[in-house]
Amino acid sequence: MQTMTDKDDLMMPRPVRDSQSEMAEIVLPNDTNPLGALLGGRLMHWIDMAGAMAAHRHSRNYVVTAAIDHLDFLTPAHVGDLVILRSSVNRVFHTSMEVGVKVFVENYLLDQCQHVSSAYLTFVAIDGGGRHLPVPAVIPETEEQRRRYEDAGRRREIRRDELEPRRLSRR
Ligand SMILES: CC(C)(COP(=O)(O)OP(=O)(O)OC[C@H]1O[C@@H](n2cnc3c(N)ncnc32)[C@H](O)[C@@H]1OP(=O)(O)O)[C@@H](O)C(=O)NCCC(=O)NCCS
Repeated sequence: MQTMTDKDDLMMPRPVRDSQSEMAEIVLPNDTNPLGALLGGRLMHWIDMAGAMAAHRHSRNYVVTAAIDHLDFLTPAHVGDLVILRSSVNRVFHTSMEVGVKVFVENYLLDQCQHVSSAYLTFVAIDGGGRHLPVPAVIPETEEQRRRYEDAGRRREIRRDELEPRRLSRR
């Protein structure tokens, strides 16, 4: 009987749900501007962390952030609010994967929850020496996950088109 090596096992495709992650933060005074509103830079840091959680879990390796797509901040969060960040791997390419992070602000006193931001991040899997590693495929199971998978493919094309001129201009 043929047995799978550990390496083959690590490359087995995995469902999106296996690496979906959630992170929560309470907005504290040190996270805010003088008006008590959450700083954009702090939220970007949390988005990066939440995205990395899903990327680590899926790839079972170290990852680095290669890119963060455009970010809109739709509604402010204030001191005392609860910020919830949900992340999932939308699609794997070869050594890179797109992770989507959706951010909500929850005011538990008013029992309100609002969408703050959505972001797409590209992570690249690496080993301890910084060499890129292939990432196992991700299996979308729900209609929403399949839509995100298809959309991620289109976004990758757009990113590639935009990246090439930037790379050339750096030479
Ligand atoms: C991101 C990084 C790994 C890319 O390495 P590289 O050798 O220039 O890239 P390559 O052309 O070999 O591409 C490797 C993969 O990354 C993807 N990639 C590279 N740059 C990208 C970008 N700007 N946006 C999206 N994907 C990108 C490529 O498409 C490729 O994916 P694939 O293997 O799935 O096809 C490298 O530039 C790096 O280590 N950057 C610093 C990362 C870091 O420190 N992040 C923390 C913030 S400072």
